[in-house]
Amino acid sequence: MRKISLDKILQSQGFGTRKYCRSLIEDGEVSVNGVVVDDYRESFDTDNLTLRVFDDEWLYREHVYIALNKPANFECSRKPSHHPGVLTLLPEQFSWRDIQPVGRLDHDTTGLLLLSDDGPFIHKQSSPRHHVPKVYRATTAEPVTEALISTLLSGVQLHDEPEPLAAVSCRQTGEHEIHIILEQGKYHQVKRMLAAAGNHCAALERVAIGKLTLSALGLAQGEWTFLDAEQLALLVPVDFADLGE
Ligand code: URA
Repeated sequence: MRKISLDKILQSQGFGTRKYCRSLIEDGEVSVNGVVVDDYRESFDTDNLTLRVFDDEWLYREHVYIALNKPANFECSRKPSHHPGVLTLLPEQFSWRDIQPVGRLDHDTTGLLLLSDDGPFIHKQSSPRHHVPKVYRATTAEPVTEALISTLLSGVQLHDEPEPLAAVSCRQTGEHEIHIILEQGKYHQVKRMLAAAGNHCAALERVAIGKLTLSALGLAQGEWTFLDAEQLALLVPVDFADLGE
């Protein structure tokens, strides 16, 4: 059991500075498990704790794990320069928590992006040693050929990389479309691999991470959801036969 004072609980959930959270509590704007609490020193066990702040219900979460269907023209960088940042697609409350994207998608890449404020989780998911595959649907400018697929599978040498990089799986899904699976997340990796193999990436969407698929999440572009323990358990190395790849 972990008892924490209500002002600290509110601050940890992103409701604002400690001072602001105390004023919300003293103004009677906060209920805990259905009861208004106006003493910010009162402490609570955070397990299954439900807050109501103004009229919004909020389940206490020590950390948040979010899946976003990223639209084009948003940047994953913390200091976006040419387009709005992906964090602007989330409620403002999250800007008070240290939420970061897990890895990056290019501004014009769409699809599944994870975000969290759990440092070890971000680190683990970003590490190529963790071997969680990322599945991309790439639209190609030139028709897909067998030679393209076998080149991507056998590996291409990219500028600035010590060794050739290969897809762990790659298959044709349309005249101008492939599904390509990577375990690394190098800068512009799919686009550079396609260019090095003699084609060009016209559009890119990340459709799955491990066994967590965008289609199962059912998110329209720009929509997000919290991930539960069952969904987080899908972020694991994969036997590609299971993915049908
Ligand atoms: N590879 C790319 O080229 N771009 C991305 O956004 C992700 C993978």
